[in-house]
Amino acid sequence: MHVLITGGNGAIGSNLARGFLKDGHEVTVMDNLVRLGVEFNEAALKEMGAICIRADARCPEDYSKLPTQQFDLIIECSAQPSATQGLQNPFFDFTNNTLAVMHVLEMARKHMAPIIFFSTNKIFAEICNSPLIEERKTRFVWKGHQRFPGFDSHCGFNEDLPTDGKEHSIYGASKIAAQHFIREYASAFGVPTITNAFSCMCSRYQYGNSHQGFLAWFVIANMLGKEVPYIGWGAEGKQCRDVLYADDVYELIKKQAVALIERPRSVSGNVYTIGGGMPFMRSLQELVSSIEDVTGFKTKIVKDTKTRHGDHVIYCSDTFKAQQDFRWKPKVSPEDAIVHIYEWVRQDYNILKILYGGSNVK
Ligand SMILES: NC(=O)c1ccc[n+]([C@@H]2O[C@H](COP(=O)([O-])OP(=O)(O)OC[C@H]3O[C@@H](n4cnc5c(N)ncnc54)[C@H](O)[C@@H]3O)[C@@H](O)[C@H]2O)c1
Repeated sequence: MHVLITGGNGAIGSNLARGFLKDGHEVTVMDNLVRLGVEFNEAALKEMGAICIRADARCPEDYSKLPTQQFDLIIECSAQPSATQGLQNPFFDFTNNTLAVMHVLEMARKHMAPIIFFSTNKIFAEICNSPLIEERKTRFVWKGHQRFPGFDSHCGFNEDLPTDGKEHSIYGASKIAAQHFIREYASAFGVPTITNAFSCMCSRYQYGNSHQGFLAWFVIANMLGKEVPYIGWGAEGKQCRDVLYADDVYELIKKQAVALIERPRSVSGNVYTIGGGMPFMRSLQELVSSIEDVTGFKTKIVKDTKTRHGDHVIYCSDTFKAQQDFRWKPKVSPEDAIVHIYEWVRQDYNILKILYGGSNVK
């Protein structure tokens, strides 16, 4: 199979590329290297046999740089992936997250190539903060048993949750626009598509920062002696996220690819809420404590009491539908994910120190 991964040098794209290459597939990576650090992934992927094309998904002309226009599978991973940076430059967010997807869709339409789209939980707005919460020692929890369409406090948020509202963030708005086009190309033109609304993914080779990729950033910052902010919600790090590690993402994508190719009618056009789920939900404070256990260093925490626009206090994905349709379940716990990220940071410590600057606590 020849797989095209747009944004394939990025955190998730590069891990998927590694997976497909190891499994014997041909992989073309299309990336404009806009994210600092991902150039190091490009070098590693080339060594493994990937075809790496420096191209901008927003430019129609750039698609002619690809070795073919006919791929067996397209994974749409390129994005401006940060909610805070989206607020700083909405038009940049729109061209990267919506317009670029239209170009990818048009290429897919010519040859009916299946597409798996990486969307986000930011397609859901302030409704995610509507359940009642209570404060515990290390985290916020949903109070008692609460339910409404798309939500059950025992499982989290699922695909039935309404996507209207006014606090998606610019990033969420540009992603949901793209997601609507993805689904329309499935129904109007028969392009096989799957959309995954991911919550929080983490991986080795993730050049995280305070805007995006927080868990990798927390590990890097801890080891470089840099400050980590607890932002908003009382600034105690009690907000919770369900953490999904890249190896589990790859297992899901493989299964979704097979389904799109072998039984498109049963899955095409679908949206799935994807994350680590309830067993892998942790607060920031709990994650920081696990990082300190692994590295042996204290994290320099700073407090920023201003809650970010469109931020969720607790988010957890209910992955029941994906589990049913693909017989998939996340296996890597946040604590194991931290160990994997730590091993990568140790291995690439000198590169990371130059990229981020740091006081060399190692
Ligand atoms: N990491 C998460 O927690 C998370 C959560 C939800 C959704 N997502 C989505 O998953 C996808 C992958 O995210 P990631 O964490 O790997 O982000 P990332 O920033 O590490 O990777 C994105 C890659 O896209 C490239 N890129 C950006 N604009 C481009 C353009 N115009 N043309 C070509 N390449 C371009 C960047 O250089 C980068 O290598 C994104 O679509 C993101 O919105 C990520």
